[in-house]
Amino acid sequence: MQAVAKNVRQGVNALHGSTAVLGASLKKVFASSASLPAEAEINESYVQSQLGYVSDAHKVTAPSMLQAPDYLLMGPGPSNPYPRAETAMSRKIIAHMSPYCYSIMDEIQEGLKYVLQTESKYTFGLSASGGAAMETTVANLMEPGDKAVISVAGIWGERFAEKVRRKGGIAITLDKESGETLSFEEIKAAVEEHKPKVFFTTHGESSSGTRQNLEGVGELCAANGTLLAVDTVCTLGGEPFFTDKWGVDVVYSGAQKCIGCPPGLSPMSFSEKAIEAVKARKTPVDSFSFDILEVGKQWGMFGDARPYHHTPPVNILFAMREALNIMAEEGLQASWERHNACHNQLWAGLSELGLKPFVEKAEDRLSTVNCIAVPEGVDAAVLIKHAFDKHKLEISGGLGRTAGKIWRIGLMGYNCTPRNVDSVIAAFKSGLKEQGYL
Ligand code: GLV
Repeated sequence: MQAVAKNVRQGVNALHGSTAVLGASLKKVFASSASLPAEAEINESYVQSQLGYVSDAHKVTAPSMLQAPDYLLMGPGPSNPYPRAETAMSRKIIAHMSPYCYSIMDEIQEGLKYVLQTESKYTFGLSASGGAAMETTVANLMEPGDKAVISVAGIWGERFAEKVRRKGGIAITLDKESGETLSFEEIKAAVEEHKPKVFFTTHGESSSGTRQNLEGVGELCAANGTLLAVDTVCTLGGEPFFTDKWGVDVVYSGAQKCIGCPPGLSPMSFSEKAIEAVKARKTPVDSFSFDILEVGKQWGMFGDARPYHHTPPVNILFAMREALNIMAEEGLQASWERHNACHNQLWAGLSELGLKPFVEKAEDRLSTVNCIAVPEGVDAAVLIKHAFDKHKLEISGGLGRTAGKIWRIGLMGYNCTPRNVDSVIAAFKSGLKEQGYL
C-alpha cells in the first residue's frame, strides 16, 4: 500500500514539476523497465545532449497566475467585452477544421450579415486586428499604379494612404482638419475628376470623433467605376450602417468596440463587385495570409471544400458568436438608440462641467467615440491619471494630430450604459476639481 502511495506521489510530482524533472523521471521509468527502442534511443540521446546549453537568463523566477487589473475601459477601445462572450471564450478549444468549428464560423457569418446589413456571402471574420483588416482591403483592391482617393481627417485616413503607397498605389488624399468631415460635393468632385479604383473613408474617425455622412457616396462610386471601401472599426453595431443599401464594396470593423467581443477577429465583407475586381487583378495579392480568395475558402465562400488556410483564434470565434447572439437579442435598432441615448447623457453631464465637444457640428459627432476639447489650464494627462487611479476608469487622450488636445470617451457595446456614463462624468468632475478648474 505504502509503495503504491509513493508511486502516485512520484507521478504527481513529475506531472507538476518542471519539464526537466518530468523528462528525467520518464527516462528513469524507461530505464527501469525494458530498454528504449533504437529510434527512441537516438532521440533520447539527442535531447540529452542539448540540455546543458539552455540559458536561464530570461527564465521567470517566480511564475504566478496572471492577475490583470480590473478597470472600466471607457476609452476608444478595447471596451470591456460582454461577460457572456468572455464565458464562451473560456470553453474548451476545438479543432479548427472540425465540422463543429465550421458550423460556428457559419453562425458568425450569419450574425455578421445581420450586423453589417448585407446579403453578401463574402462576409467573415479576419483572424487579425482592425488595422490588418485595413491592410487586407488595400492588399486585395490595389495593384501598383492603381489610384485611390482617400478621405484624410485623422490617423486612419493617413494610415490607409500610407498602406496604398507601400503597395505601389497612388494615394490622392482629400485632407480635412481634424474634427471635420467631407461634404458630398467634395467627394463627388474628387471621384469624378480622378475616377479612382477605390474611394476610402472611415465611417467613424476615432482619433477625432467624427462620423462621415455616406449618403449618395455608393451611387456616386458605382457611377464612376470606383469601389467604395469603408472603415467601421469604431461604429459597427453602435451607429446606423447599411452595407448593401449604401453600396459599400468593402467594409471592415473591429471586434473589441461596439460588438463587445475581445479583440482578435475583425468583421469584413466584400461585395460581389469587389470579389470580381480581385479576381481580375493582373498580379496576385502579395500577401497569402490576407488574400481574400485564399482566406475565403476556409470560410466556405468559394464552394463546399474548406481547405486549410490558417489556424484561427478558435476561442475568439466562440466569443464573437456569443457577442453576435447578444446583438441579435437586443436588435440593431435598440443598440443604435442605446448608443445615442448614452451619448446625449454624456454631453448633458459634461456641458454642466463646462466642457465642450471637439467636433463643432453636432451632425458630425460620433456617439461611440466622444471627443472633448481640453480646456486652457487643464493638464489632459493628469486628468487621465486621476480617472485611472481614483475611479479605476480608463479614458483616453487624442491620437496622432489630436494628441494632447482632446480626451476620448468610448461608449461602446457592453460598456455603453447610463451607469457607466455617470461614472465617467463623476471622474471628470473630481479630476477637474483636483486641478482647480471647477
Ligand atoms: C484605436 O482604435 C483608437 O482609436 O485609439
